[in-house]
Amino acid sequence: MKRIVIFASGNGTNAQRIIDHFKGRTDAQVVQVLSNNKSAKVLERASNSKISAISFNRTAFYKTDHILNLLKTTRPDLIVLAGFLWLFPEDIIRAFPDNVINIHPALLPDFGGKGMYGKYVHEAVYAFAKAHPKQKTHTGITIHKVTPEYDKGEFLFQAKVEVTRDDTPESIAEKVHKLEYKHFPEVIEKILIT
Ligand code: GAR
Repeated sequence: MKRIVIFASGNGTNAQRIIDHFKGRTDAQVVQVLSNNKSAKVLERASNSKISAISFNRTAFYKTDHILNLLKTTRPDLIVLAGFLWLFPEDIIRAFPDNVINIHPALLPDFGGKGMYGKYVHEAVYAFAKAHPKQKTHTGITIHKVTPEYDKGEFLFQAKVEVTRDDTPESIAEKVHKLEYKHFPEVIEKILIT
């Protein structure tokens, strides 16, 4: 069975979709959820699904081998960043080469980089569309391999959706979430089970 570990920082609606997608399967399953935020809803979601839920702080993550050693024990086939907002440490990427992926809520290389996460991405897309009313604007999702830099790394999948005149940052977020829920579990499945 392929083992999936998810890192997430907040609500974890994507994590929930991934957990549910693989629930009860014998070919792949989410075996652990880790968060940098001990009160993140995603940890509660994991516990409710009887999945190991662990939080860590900045020191443990960046200054010790705590999480690296934990992952070596868990032996994930794929590490999935699903709304994880901290830069991923190089030593963990090196320990699991090619097996760390991230979802970004826009069409990279646009609207990516440090500080570009969650609602800030959708606000930037909205501002761009407003500033270019004659141009058709698209947003979407990018699933990519993780490197030690924010939002770089080989693209594995993109899906796009049009930003219309009456969209708001909130409605853009909703459209993007829909794409995430539809495609992220499937892309993970394709990566793991081919
Ligand atoms: C998702 O839209 C994800 O793409 C985004 O955070 C959201 C988390 O939502 N990730 C980033 O912005 C990373 N740069 P969720 O916690 O409900 O899944």
